[in-house]
Amino acid sequence: MSDQLIIFDTTLRDGEQSPGASMTRDEKLRIARQLERLKVDVIEAGFAAASNGDFESIQAIARAIKDSTICSLSRANDRDIARSAEALKGASRARIHTFIATSPLHMEKKLRMSPEQVLEQARLAVRFGRNLIDDIEFSAEDGYRSEPDFLCRVIEAVINEGATTINVPDTVGYAIPELYGNFIKDLRERVPNSDKAIWSVHCHNDLGMAVANSLAGVKIGGARQVECTINGLGERAGNCSLEEIVMAVKTRKDYFGLDLNIDPQHIVAASRMVSQTTGFVVQPNKAVVGANAFAHASGIHQDGVLKARDTYEIMRAEDVGWTANKIVLGKLSGRNAFKQRLQELGVELDSEAAINAAFANFKELADRKSEIFDEDILALVNAQGALDQVDTFHFISLAQQSETGERPHATVVFSSDGKEVKASSDGNGPVDASFKAIESEVRSGAEMLLYSVNAISGSTESQGEVTVRLQRNGRVVNGVGADPDIVVASAKAYLSALNKLQGNSEIVAAQG
Ligand code: KIV
Ligand code: ZN
Repeated sequence: MSDQLIIFDTTLRDGEQSPGASMTRDEKLRIARQLERLKVDVIEAGFAAASNGDFESIQAIARAIKDSTICSLSRANDRDIARSAEALKGASRARIHTFIATSPLHMEKKLRMSPEQVLEQARLAVRFGRNLIDDIEFSAEDGYRSEPDFLCRVIEAVINEGATTINVPDTVGYAIPELYGNFIKDLRERVPNSDKAIWSVHCHNDLGMAVANSLAGVKIGGARQVECTINGLGERAGNCSLEEIVMAVKTRKDYFGLDLNIDPQHIVAASRMVSQTTGFVVQPNKAVVGANAFAHASGIHQDGVLKARDTYEIMRAEDVGWTANKIVLGKLSGRNAFKQRLQELGVELDSEAAINAAFANFKELADRKSEIFDEDILALVNAQGALDQVDTFHFISLAQQSETGERPHATVVFSSDGKEVKASSDGNGPVDASFKAIESEVRSGAEMLLYSVNAISGSTESQGEVTVRLQRNGRVVNGVGADPDIVVASAKAYLSALNKLQGNSEIVAAQG
């Protein structure tokens, strides 16, 4: 059996299914580039038949990414599979992932199909896919709650049709590590042609065991692919977290004995990018990527770490991309120093024009904030990513008054399709007043689902990073803004969300 563990990232597909985590095509492309830097083996870029937006995102990612296999999900029918194949055209390596539910509950209540019909549909789907692309993954949805005898028949049939990867998901997060590991092991032992495919695990985190279950699937079951997402993003309690799987397998190589292609130095930047893009904040005590993951607060621990780091540290923070909270640049720093720092942080901007724009934003920030931290630079380029698209609204300036006992008032100046607009309003607080001011002109009619503020480098001197989640006509978008002034950051985030909400449609400020 191979010693190589394949990391299959589904942040852009299963992760995005998390309510509110929807991403634009450009955002997905930026995240895919970061996943490529991380050396993820397979990127599941979306579900091509789900929407035109998903199709276009997969297409853009398939064309741009060279080093990872790009995968598109499809139900087990010809239309979905053909749509995936179409979206994947031009990819250097492409995979079609097709699935159908195999548990009695899902077959009877959801699909209203008999087991024999499901078996036949799975077989035909893989046959159809295999005529289009060589790399075919088959998933038995709700596999863990399926009858093993029936599941063995389905898996044997799809391998005979040419499936190259067999995924056995714990779709509802019901598994227990030892049981799941043995479940995979039994299937592998009972399916006569099991050695013709790579076995994969895909675990949801409803009972908080997605990572443990996946590792058991690998260790006990012999799976050689793990499906996971950055920060464990995903529906309900999320998916198996990529950073935890990767660092568990690397840190305990003595136990797992497996190799990974992943370059963990890019983990923290990937985590930040996903959290900033989706507005799903990472809890401080989250393993590997939480703000406190490497912080030693107690005196005994600090003393031990100062004497010998491995007294309390099993991994090194810098190995996963944490940088010391140090002042890296100031307003006298030049473009080359800035560019080099971006490289050290693992940030690759796509063009000289993008570097110039980031540098201009950096200079503007450095004029107002004497100490610029790595976190500031990352927030700046992440916010810029959102600005790279052709936007309708651009923030220009903001003035606000608030005083105890007085109703706050804000005036926001922004451009709308190139024309300057000045808007004023009262509000419950200065942020509310600035949003109301913008709305008084834009009249988007959007509903706000989330407003969150985060201090980028952990003190009041740091930049505030704001996420605004808006919904209109069933479409949900996240806008992000960063600035040392949190009211300004909020207004920028609001305008950024409006830009995304707008998409192809129509909102522009009602002039005059
Ligand atoms: O959880 C699940 O079963 C899935 C499949 C579509 C792979 O996401
Ligand atoms: Zn899933």
